[in-house]
Amino acid sequence: MLLEVEDLHVRYGRTHAVAGATLSVAEGEIVAVLGANGAGKSSLLKAILGTVKPAGGRIRFAGAEITQAPVPQRIRDGLVLVPEGRRILVSMTIEENLLLGAGLRRDRATLPREMDAIYDRFSNLAARRDMPAAVLSGGEQQMLAIGRAMLAKPRLMMLDEPSLGLSPLLVDRVFSLLRELNGGGMAVLLVEQNTRKTLELAARGSVLELGRMVMAGSAASLLADEGLQRAYLGAG
Ligand SMILES: Nc1ncnc2c1ncn2[C@@H]1O[C@H](COP(=O)(O)OP(=O)(O)OP(=O)(O)O)[C@@H](O)[C@H]1O
Ligand SMILES: [Mg+2]
Repeated sequence: MLLEVEDLHVRYGRTHAVAGATLSVAEGEIVAVLGANGAGKSSLLKAILGTVKPAGGRIRFAGAEITQAPVPQRIRDGLVLVPEGRRILVSMTIEENLLLGAGLRRDRATLPREMDAIYDRFSNLAARRDMPAAVLSGGEQQMLAIGRAMLAKPRLMMLDEPSLGLSPLLVDRVFSLLRELNGGGMAVLLVEQNTRKTLELAARGSVLELGRMVMAGSAASLLADEGLQRAYLGAG
C-alpha cells in the first residue's frame, strides 16, 4: 500500500474531529472519502499531510512511518494536498503560485517542460501568467491549485472538495483531469460531497460521520447502498 492510515484521531480541544479513521490507498488507486459538513474530512487530510498533529494513530506512506514527520518531508516523499478553498496567494502572480508547487523538488530539470504542459492545458492561466492570481475566477483558481500540486510531482494527490463552487462543466474538467493524472500512475485521495461523481471515479470509498468511518467498501457497493443513497445521493 502507498498510504496506510490506522486508527487516526484528531482533536481540537474538546472536539474529537477524527475519531479512529482507518483507510488505505494503493499505488495508482483512486480512493474517496465522503461525509457531510463537519464530518472530519478536512481534518483527516490535514493530519495526513501533517499540518494538523494527530492525537493518536499511525500514518505510513511509501513504506515508511510518517506520523510525526515534518510536512516538507512528506511533500518530498510524494504527498500533496489541494486544500479546501484553494489557498491561492492572490497577491502573487499565477506563475509564482505555480512555482510554489515545485518549491521542495530536488529534480528540477524537467520543470520548464512541465510548466509549459500546464500552460498548454490551462490556456486561461497561460494568458495571464504574470498577473496576480486575484484576477482568476473561482474555477480558474481551482485549476491553478491543481496545477501547483501537479508540479510537486506527487505519488499521491489529496484533494479537499475540488468541485466546490464550480460549474458542472468545470467539475467535469476537474474529474477528467484526475482520471488522466491517475492514468499516468498518480494515486488520488479525494474528499468530496459530490458523491455520485466521486464514486464513479474512485475504486473504493469510505464514509465519515462525526469523525467515525461508518462505511467502507468498493465504489460500486457504496453506490448501490440504500442508506448511503438516502443520506448522500438524494434518494437515489
Ligand atoms: N482549527 C479548528 N479548531 C477547532 N475546531 C475545528 C478546527 N477545524 C475543524 N474543527 C472542527 O472539527 C470538526 C471537523 O471539521 P472538518 O473541517 O474536518 O470537517 P469537514 O468534514 O471537512 O467539513 P466541511 O465539509 O464543512 O468542510 C468540526 O466540528 C469543526 O468545527
Ligand atoms: Mg472540509
